[in-house]
Amino acid sequence: MLLLDGKTASAAVKNEIREETLQLLAAGKRAPHLAAILVGTNGASETYVASKVKNCEEVGFRSTLIRMDADVAEAELLDAIARLNADPEVDGILVQLPLPKQISEQKVIEAIDPDKDVDGFHPSSAGKLVQGLPSFIPATPYGIMLMLELFDITTKGKHAVVIGRSNIVGRPMSILLSSNQKRGNCTVTICHSHTPNLQEICLQADIIVAALGRPEFVKADMVKEGAVVIDVGITRVDDPTAKKGFRIKGDVAFAEVAPKTSAITPVPGGVGLMTIAGLLKNTLQAYKQNHAI
Ligand code: GUN
Repeated sequence: MLLLDGKTASAAVKNEIREETLQLLAAGKRAPHLAAILVGTNGASETYVASKVKNCEEVGFRSTLIRMDADVAEAELLDAIARLNADPEVDGILVQLPLPKQISEQKVIEAIDPDKDVDGFHPSSAGKLVQGLPSFIPATPYGIMLMLELFDITTKGKHAVVIGRSNIVGRPMSILLSSNQKRGNCTVTICHSHTPNLQEICLQADIIVAALGRPEFVKADMVKEGAVVIDVGITRVDDPTAKKGFRIKGDVAFAEVAPKTSAITPVPGGVGLMTIAGLLKNTLQAYKQNHAI
């Protein structure tokens, strides 16, 4: 069994980005700049955004974090996005999701300039992805594709089962794996909460992508011998014995599933780190497009 270690894989991607950034700076250009907006104080969102900012620093990017109160009016958030859209010094914009109830996530996603949409959530980016046009790929599916490439996982002709149909992970993942590209050309089945015979379908999978957000949902009796298993889950589960009072659990029961697989991602230390790598790649791409480099 090959452990698909996100630490090694993301370090390789980040090194490349750091090199390229250093070259830009050496040529007298400014650094790529990511602006992140965090609304409220959701613990998990705080952690993710802090990690995004820290990783920007590590590769030499500039980053700006804009914090807003949980009760901020939608109009105020939309104004902040409009200012970042108009700022020529900002290359990428992300608004951390989820957002409080008074704010329409869809309105916020659509307010971001598609040229700065480094999360790839804008309908324009999603539409381009579906049609196989160059676009910003949502960071998690992008990170998984980078990981498949770095660990040389064959996808052509394989049956991939994606569990979860979110716009952030499951849906774009299914499109990428089925597309006519090097780490694509899979036959993809997308499963969700209304799929009746999930176990039967998973047992046919050469590749499973678990992205439903239910801790340890995928058990050994759902996985074919030799399958590749990608675990996108990162749920905080209360655990008074842990230092922080919680533990991070994936969507896969790792201990029982891993021995059956040919390759599997750990949680933590797997897909989560690749998501950041995907975001950094998108930010560099936005910079280059906006500077016609
Ligand atoms: N919430 C969960 N995943 C993501 C992500 O990739 N981007 C943003 N902006 N919010 C998220």
